[in-house]
Amino acid sequence: MNLIKLEDWSASDIIETVDTAISIKGTPADYADAMDHHTLTLLFQKTSTRTRCAGEIGMMRLGGNSSYLDWRSTNFALADLQDEMQVLSSYTDLILVRFLLHNELIEAVGGATVPVINGCCDRYHPTQAIGDLMTIKERFGRLSGIKLTYVGVHNNVCNSLISAGIKTGMQITIVTPELNQAAKDPDLLSKAIQAGTCIISDQLQDAVQNSDIIYTDTWIDMEYFLDPSYEEMKKKRIAQFLPYQINKNLLKDQDVLVMHCLPAHHGYEISTEMIKDPRSIVFEQAANRMPSMQAIILKLIQTVS
Ligand code: CP
Ligand code: NVA
Repeated sequence: MNLIKLEDWSASDIIETVDTAISIKGTPADYADAMDHHTLTLLFQKTSTRTRCAGEIGMMRLGGNSSYLDWRSTNFALADLQDEMQVLSSYTDLILVRFLLHNELIEAVGGATVPVINGCCDRYHPTQAIGDLMTIKERFGRLSGIKLTYVGVHNNVCNSLISAGIKTGMQITIVTPELNQAAKDPDLLSKAIQAGTCIISDQLQDAVQNSDIIYTDTWIDMEYFLDPSYEEMKKKRIAQFLPYQINKNLLKDQDVLVMHCLPAHHGYEISTEMIKDPRSIVFEQAANRMPSMQAIILKLIQTVS
């Protein structure tokens, strides 16, 4: 069993993992030896703070160990991808990868003989979604019927929230005037619309008024943020999306919680004061990446032992 996208897991797999994450957070000592003598290898093409640390430190706190590979310092780029994944599988119990391209991730998974966790590609971010579900369940005591509005660019994080809606009965409204082409997944969107768990809206204020949670993410994926060839696109996105910024004016008198997967770009998709607002749970959400990653690791290791 792998975790490539949330759609691959059953609703009960997801709920059980969310509940394990809450349990790990509450009684970490009960899990201190759960991954004794096990290794997680991380293979990353993109930068990361949360996903990497959740994997590395999370594994250590389960009594296991980890090995971090920056793609550029390996022979992956020189060799056959599936050969390298097969070799890596012979050294480790699980592999957490961050590939730029979803299709390359799928090819890599074909070479692995141990469970692979997608730590974010250009189409999905399932470990983020499981951490988000944990945070929402802790706050509301349930997932079904919770109304979450995602505002910004339709991207990998947005897709995984849409999947989370299908699996848990959470109501996802997307106010996303632009789609990252790499994140295009018409089957997922139509499945969610048919299931009644996703609504597409162009009415930001109405959507906000009808929400328990407002969620946003960067307008530009991390790998492009400092890329000079992306400068024109960046300017266009900023002009197009500034009216969609999550700020105190938009959320004036609104009883909502604010989420962001981080890293945030202050003054763009979210204002600094909104990140620090009492309604913001972004740091709680980020902290939950660790127990939720630990729960994912435990779930997957059970499928091989
Ligand atoms: N939210 C998230 O995945 O953050 P990192 O890129 O820092 O891992
Ligand atoms: N959507 C952004 C942030 C994910 C944490 C990206 O893929 O770079």
